[in-house]
Amino acid sequence: MTDPITATDLVKVYAGKVRAVDGVGFSVREGEMYGFLGPNGAGKTTTVQMLTGNLRLTGGSASVAGLDVVRYSHEVKRRIGLVFQESTADPDLTGRENLELAAALFGVPLRTTRSTIDSLLERMQIGDAADRLVKTYSGGMRRRLELGVGIIHSPSVLFLDEPTLGLDPQGRAGFWRYVLELRKDRGMTVFVTTHYLDEADTYCDRIAIIDHGKIVATGTPSELKDRLGGDVVTVRLTNGGSAAVETVLKGLPGVVSVAKFEDVYRVKVPRGEELIPRLVEACDQSGIRLAGVSLKRPSLDEVFLEFTGREYREDEGLTATDRAVRIGQVQQAFGRARR
Ligand SMILES: Nc1ncnc2c1ncn2[C@@H]1O[C@H](COP(=O)(O)OP(=O)(O)OP(=O)(O)O)[C@@H](O)[C@H]1O
Ligand SMILES: [Mg+2]
Repeated sequence: MTDPITATDLVKVYAGKVRAVDGVGFSVREGEMYGFLGPNGAGKTTTVQMLTGNLRLTGGSASVAGLDVVRYSHEVKRRIGLVFQESTADPDLTGRENLELAAALFGVPLRTTRSTIDSLLERMQIGDAADRLVKTYSGGMRRRLELGVGIIHSPSVLFLDEPTLGLDPQGRAGFWRYVLELRKDRGMTVFVTTHYLDEADTYCDRIAIIDHGKIVATGTPSELKDRLGGDVVTVRLTNGGSAAVETVLKGLPGVVSVAKFEDVYRVKVPRGEELIPRLVEACDQSGIRLAGVSLKRPSLDEVFLEFTGREYREDEGLTATDRAVRIGQVQQAFGRARR
């Protein structure tokens, strides 16, 4: 049986110049929760839009739920669920009405609609607010409703594009709880984009890290962290550093590698806590003046830095994402008008 999502050499060039997706390939196995992790503008939404039959491919090919996304884009859309990065629920309808509308659009048989909607509303914990206008909902309630809308027609593959963007930690945890429950009950395959490293780490079976339109690393969260080869001790010096410093650091016992990023040395070592006292002593003896030393356990932040050479700054990313969402909405509106 073919995998429910496969992509080969996907390319998207916007307006003939922005190379948003640059040769992306991967496959997602049946029942898997696959995370697409990357910072703002990495190409996550563009990839989702191509996989879901919503955006023309510049190059490459993809199949979803057993169908080529270009030839059968209409049928692909019927077989999948999609929760967009932006809110799509109609604020002037009630939660129940939004679900009814989605059910009608997808041709869900009327006799099953009512009971399906009732059970979804209960499960998403919006039962009490079911007959209130969506504009009175909290951000978390809206996202849960949109998840319900996305799966009203029992799709076999679900795409979630930054589903928890802008939610507080409690809202994010609540959303994920329902995704996990649904996946378990229905055996859905889930493709999720996020720029929250912790979400990818906690909830995804496998992750692809995407940066500047290219996949820079893939694997399970623990495989990716294992590739770092242990802990990372970061060393900051009062005077920036020199080649002599690198030699001293490399000469310390157990050190796997030393790399310099901006004004910080990153020393990879299996057991960081044992290295630190020796490192301090060696620097002292060599006249190297330390400004700070810190120990980092393997984390996806470290993986990101390792594969992209850049820090993953989530807090900066958030405001930038909010901005990008708005710009993206305008761009998409123009794009739709043009297509
Ligand atoms: N319609 C468009 N026209 C031109 N450029 C676009 C368009 N949509 C996106 N881009 C550009 O393509 C690149 C990838 O954008 P995309 O929205 O896929 O990134 P993303 O990873 O989803 O980012 P974010 O985390 O901000 O949602 C960015 O440089 C973006 O500015
Ligand atoms: Mg996006």
